[in-house]
Amino acid sequence: MLSEKLEKALNEQIKIEGDSSQIYLEMASWAEIQGFEGIATFMFAQSDEERQHMLKLVKYVNQRGGQAVIPAVTKPELDHTSFKALFKQLFDHEVFVSKSINELVHIALEERDYATHNFLQWYVSEQIEEEATARTILDKINLIGDDKGGLYLFDNDIKNFNQQANNNPAV
Ligand SMILES: [Fe+2]
Ligand SMILES: [Fe+2]
Repeated sequence: MLSEKLEKALNEQIKIEGDSSQIYLEMASWAEIQGFEGIATFMFAQSDEERQHMLKLVKYVNQRGGQAVIPAVTKPELDHTSFKALFKQLFDHEVFVSKSINELVHIALEERDYATHNFLQWYVSEQIEEEATARTILDKINLIGDDKGGLYLFDNDIKNFNQQANNNPAV
């Protein structure tokens, strides 16, 4: 049985994962309109992954005798003035998610809920990957700047990234 405090914190994480899915979806749609097929495919896949992160939490909360709260859909407000700005927001968002997961782990220990502590380890590892991916992309974007040719190559490049991710699924 989950404590009230932990149930509340897990429900907050459900919303964060849902918001993450919307953010990636917004970026996917935007990239598609701009003609960046590789980036769009990558972002659509990321959005699906975030939804899986949310579902995994929903099921866990219910399984442990709590009640998952399904959050309202939030409209992402992203700065699209440059690729750099856009991908910086993505990276910052993943850093924020990692902090939130760390806080959850802290609460689980405080509440002496070792089952939840164990459950959350998957998210801890996942965030290492997510942050690393966002950082890699941001580094590349910083190198390219707003050079159209560079962006075209990057769009092709990220297609391989998708392939690698598919061969080694995180979920
Ligand atoms: Fe996530
Ligand atoms: Fe993520």
